[in-house]
Amino acid sequence: MSDRKILITSALPYANGPIHLGHLVEYIQTDIWARFQKKRGNQCHYVCADDTHGTPIMLKADREGITPEELIAQVGKEHLQDFTDFGVAFDNYHSTHSEENKHFSSLIYQRLRDGGHISSRSITQAYDPKKEMFLPDRFIKGDCPKCNAKDQYGDNCEACGATYSPIELQNAVSAVSGEKPIEKDSVHYFFNLADFNDMLKSWTTAEGHLQSEVSNKLAEWLESGLQDWDISRDAPYFGFEIPDAPGKYFYVWLDAPVGYMASFKNLCDKQGLDFDEYWAEDSKTELYHFIGKDIIYFHALFWPAMLNGANFRTPSAVFAHGFLTVNGEKMSKSRGTFIKARTYLDHLDPEYLRYYFAAKLSAGIDDIDLSFEDFTLRVNSDLVGKVVNIASRCSGFIKKRFDGKLSEQCVEPELFAQFTGASESIAALYETREYGKAMREIMALADKANQYIDEKKPWLVAKEEGKEQELHDICSIGINLFRLLVGYLSPVLPKLATDSEDFLNIDAQQWITKQTTPLLSHDIKAFKALMTRVDETKIAAILEESKENLEKIAEPIVSQFEPIAPEIEFDDFAKIDLRIAKIIKAEHVKGANKLLQLTVDIGDETLNVFAGIKSAYAPEDLEGKLTVVVANLKPRKMKFGLSEGMVLAAGPGGESLWVLHPDDGATAGMRVK
Ligand code: 2FM
Ligand code: ZN
Repeated sequence: MSDRKILITSALPYANGPIHLGHLVEYIQTDIWARFQKKRGNQCHYVCADDTHGTPIMLKADREGITPEELIAQVGKEHLQDFTDFGVAFDNYHSTHSEENKHFSSLIYQRLRDGGHISSRSITQAYDPKKEMFLPDRFIKGDCPKCNAKDQYGDNCEACGATYSPIELQNAVSAVSGEKPIEKDSVHYFFNLADFNDMLKSWTTAEGHLQSEVSNKLAEWLESGLQDWDISRDAPYFGFEIPDAPGKYFYVWLDAPVGYMASFKNLCDKQGLDFDEYWAEDSKTELYHFIGKDIIYFHALFWPAMLNGANFRTPSAVFAHGFLTVNGEKMSKSRGTFIKARTYLDHLDPEYLRYYFAAKLSAGIDDIDLSFEDFTLRVNSDLVGKVVNIASRCSGFIKKRFDGKLSEQCVEPELFAQFTGASESIAALYETREYGKAMREIMALADKANQYIDEKKPWLVAKEEGKEQELHDICSIGINLFRLLVGYLSPVLPKLATDSEDFLNIDAQQWITKQTTPLLSHDIKAFKALMTRVDETKIAAILEESKENLEKIAEPIVSQFEPIAPEIEFDDFAKIDLRIAKIIKAEHVKGANKLLQLTVDIGDETLNVFAGIKSAYAPEDLEGKLTVVVANLKPRKMKFGLSEGMVLAAGPGGESLWVLHPDDGATAGMRVK
């Protein structure tokens, strides 16, 4: 056992939406590193949690008619399931809405305050007088002060790119209530980041803490001067109340990174680990944070300063990565490239994606592209064509001709030694997060193994008399090389590794070393397909299904609080043919998350309507009900068929949606006036 003690984290995903492939770059990158460290015999803990606080989560719960606690419990469960199914093996997955997090957030705050690093002053902000809450910039909409584009967010204009303060926005409305925001003063608490200027200058430039491109960027920020950081938010806010400031809450980004500590504390309590050994100021253990490049500011400035100011250790390093593009472009809902983890899992083997990301990842912060054509080629040619193929080419002979037992001798000690001899250089590439290079080195070894088999042609040797031993030796070498390759790939492909170890009839392998010896006179099990080629129809299905996420029934962000729409003429209204309709049939739609298929009788005819009310109603609750439909809506072609009308329903969306239905006396086909 090595004496390295390592704590690893990935950024905590927000508990207000599903995990998508963009997130997975980071969790897969981190998981590979954690698995690698464990294989090397290091004591390593990989922790994470859901990031649960803040206004968007509070408002989302409100829209769905549930409490924030219910929302985050549900989302947290889904997140962990997605990660687990992708083979991301956290040692602990916790929540920032936890006792441990409350404790450490308060403790850090108190220590900062006692050290004189917290100040307070009154600031003016946009306030929604109807919802009685201060509005974050993204919850204010209005016309751009520069180009007049309508419906822009409170901090920047998507039309002209201008950035501004929400107070400058013209005709501003609260996106929560539709009300015109007013300006209101309130006392806020600030973390005096400038107190840590010198500490941060040396921390951000010290060897090994940051990638060089990140360190350079930070030098620019430090040069331009550090501003105080506003760490409080006024009630109503879903978060932790600040200990000495009733009605004031910690801003979500204050307690989010503390969530790393909290999750680890939770693990310590479960496993009897020593928390202080990892977090005390003089800790000898290693602490690494894997993050996306968009949140460097928080992790490389605020977080080390908070830790330093509160007498905790600072990170050993922060590793940033780039964003994911799909087929060369930003992930897009309309192109179907905004792919949820679950959608992928419903169709394809998660290990394909783990391998593909590994093959593309480096230690830098460049974006990585998922090109589905390249994905298919690489998986088919590297994993199926090169690696698994070695086992399938050799195992049949071992099974049939040698009763499943490998040869008692290794006739290619040099070749075997070449493979084991690569262990330290491959390890160094994993250690430095140069996974793409590691995959290339492993595949070069796989090429060598295949060349060996091609040259020796066991399929011909098998036909010759008296060459039993030769055949046995060749195939045994093949199987032994396969075993080493699988060992090298195991941090990336844990399932392939486990299945292969089962086939090879060996225990889970630790990291291969020069001392690793071949399996001789060893019984293996019957070969079963360890990985199959990528089925391209599945990729098409993923893209198609991801487009469906766009179904326009999705809940609007302002839902029941939407402002009244612009005035219309009576003639406009008269164009809408509203009819009483009887729901004759209601059915589930295969593959649709939100839709039910309704057959409605509107008097002389029946219409087929897809309605986004699945979360609110079981089909049997609807059959026989009268409701109101727009009967003259232009039919709309949807993925599942033609929708010929629209059922009227009210509510904020999500679970709470009620179809309208008339009082007794109305019958199907009656016009609604
Ligand atoms: O950017 C995000 O998705 C944040 N939820 C990350 C938080 S990381 C850490 F600080 F908690
Ligand atoms: Zn503009």
